[in-house]
Amino acid sequence: MNRPALEGLRLNAPAYVKHARLMAWVAEMAALTEARDVHWCDGSTAEYDRLCAQLVAAGTFKRLNPELRPNSYLACSSPSDVARVEDRTFICSAKKEDAGPTNNWMEPAEMRALLQTGDRALFRGAMKGRTMYVVPFSMGPLGSPIAHIGVELSDSPYVAVNMKIMTRMGRAVIDVLGSDGDFVPCMHTVGAPLEPGQKDVAWPCNTTKYIVHYPETREIWSYGSGYGGNALLGKKCFALRIASTMGRDEGWLAEHMLILGVESPEGKKHHVAAAFPSACGKTNFAMLIPPGGLPGWKVTTIGDDIAWIKPAADGRLYAINPEAGYFGVAPGTNEKTNFNCMASLKRDVIFTNVALTDDGDVWWEGMTDVPPAQLTDWQGKRWTPAIAKETGAKAAHPNARFTVPATNNPALDAAWDDPAGVPIDAIIVGGRRSTTVPLVTEARDWTEGVYMAATMGSETTAAAAGQQGVVRRDPFAMLPFIGYNMSDYFQHWLSLGAKLQAKGATLPKIFCVNWFRKGDDGKFVWPGYGENMRVLKWMLERVEGRAQGAENVFGVTPNYQDLTWEGLDFSAAQYQQVTGVDQGAWKAELALHDELFKQLAWHLPAELSATKARIEARLAG
Ligand code: GTP
Ligand code: SPV
Ligand code: MN
Repeated sequence: MNRPALEGLRLNAPAYVKHARLMAWVAEMAALTEARDVHWCDGSTAEYDRLCAQLVAAGTFKRLNPELRPNSYLACSSPSDVARVEDRTFICSAKKEDAGPTNNWMEPAEMRALLQTGDRALFRGAMKGRTMYVVPFSMGPLGSPIAHIGVELSDSPYVAVNMKIMTRMGRAVIDVLGSDGDFVPCMHTVGAPLEPGQKDVAWPCNTTKYIVHYPETREIWSYGSGYGGNALLGKKCFALRIASTMGRDEGWLAEHMLILGVESPEGKKHHVAAAFPSACGKTNFAMLIPPGGLPGWKVTTIGDDIAWIKPAADGRLYAINPEAGYFGVAPGTNEKTNFNCMASLKRDVIFTNVALTDDGDVWWEGMTDVPPAQLTDWQGKRWTPAIAKETGAKAAHPNARFTVPATNNPALDAAWDDPAGVPIDAIIVGGRRSTTVPLVTEARDWTEGVYMAATMGSETTAAAAGQQGVVRRDPFAMLPFIGYNMSDYFQHWLSLGAKLQAKGATLPKIFCVNWFRKGDDGKFVWPGYGENMRVLKWMLERVEGRAQGAENVFGVTPNYQDLTWEGLDFSAAQYQQVTGVDQGAWKAELALHDELFKQLAWHLPAELSATKARIEARLAG
């Protein structure tokens, strides 16, 4: 942009901003989007309160009853903007094969014309009548050598306040950036410009949506949605899609994994990272409370959604949680399933798309056994149990969520924001499968573990727009989040393991779990939640070389007597239901692995095909 245009803009940059490139970019984007004005977020509590009050005045937020839910708000989105939009998500690498067959791709120049440079580019004038918020954020502890900085420009104050909870956000980030620090530019608009005099709506968005990543230049451009991972660009767009490409180039991993600490009754601490697809139990597992039958065990949370994992000088893998808050699934969360989560949600929460009670509190399906007599549902309609029975109407949207600071979690691990991270002893992967996949299987080695993770299937959930409950392959729970070619990503995992092993390091053991097998009655057979501690205990005993198990075609599964059953009535027959390996079902399953490998044939590591051949031979013989 030329000098007079730059000067003509009211950039409003505070005196503490010393970064010429940042200021020039903000000015250029303000000019492109024709934002009415620019607000630089300082990340203070006063600013948060002010923006929330403004959102209340605009009708986006309802302030909840401060006696029941202090410092908390409810936002209800447009029914057309309730989840991530995978079919509108693009990886615009220079070469199509670098995005790979699992990602949508468009030539970068073509996408730029569409969004940015063309005469009718979508971002042109997209912020008319709106304030552009400059949201500087750090993924990972501020100033940590593992952390990375981003700056999101957004015309959504909802995004600004959510980013305050989800990341380390504000002036301190600008200070770390100094005069020429690196940052990932994250451009976001809801795509709803306001003409003079035009009245705003409570949840502005656009039916056209683009969630776009340029991995080579490390940029994010998001258009048309204000919801979750589409709009809070530090999360999936940066910390997974862009960060996975950084990890590929620099020798580390950006993963869709929770991180937890677990202390045994003897006081021995282990750390575990687990990849489950969206809405498949990460937040729950990360906050698990061991059942009474396993006294002395304690689980603490480091992260609930994303892990950045790097090899350290000692050859071990260390993980940090790049986030500072939880954007978690509300439905199904209650005092019994996730007590720590309910405790976290007592105050300071932004709820999105849950139901409002008559006394100004929130409710969602599964929160209590008996629903309130009447409610206002997430779409603002009257809701009663009778109406629900008749029409099937949900009080809360199935992908309704809460945004809450990690520091509200009573089970937060003392090392949750240690810049060095925590050493990982075991890696778990697991999907939502009503059949076929056993409760738990241990991979016999790193390659077999990578194979398990790579071929994992899961039933789709409400976390993404589209059909629910259909089994699809979701390698490492990263199908929607990998920023490059999936086969190259498998190779990156294999190579990293080989490199560390060559140095004599002990790699984490890899396990595959499935909490979701169903009986003929359609109900989950395994009680799940806190009872998952029984499986976790076995895995840690395997890490320690102390527990038994039985070899099957895919790995090692515990015998009934290898798990602790104290305090749980779960028969050997029921156990057989959740661990049995059905030959026919597995032949069909391997045919699906085949399909995946055909799709991913380009650059597919030969070791994975060889592992598959070995499994097939075992299954046949
Ligand atoms: P994202 O935030 O979308 O990445 O999801 P997540 O992986 O953190 O999933 P979350 O822990 O929020 O759980 C999603 C849903 O699965 C909730 O409704 C939970 O109640 C349910 N769930 C979690 N763990 C279990 C389990 O062990 N058994 C069963 N049956 N359901 C579970
Ligand atoms: C997921 O879908 O895996 C989430 C929610 O964690 S979102 O931030 O919307 O991606
Ligand atoms: Mn997630």
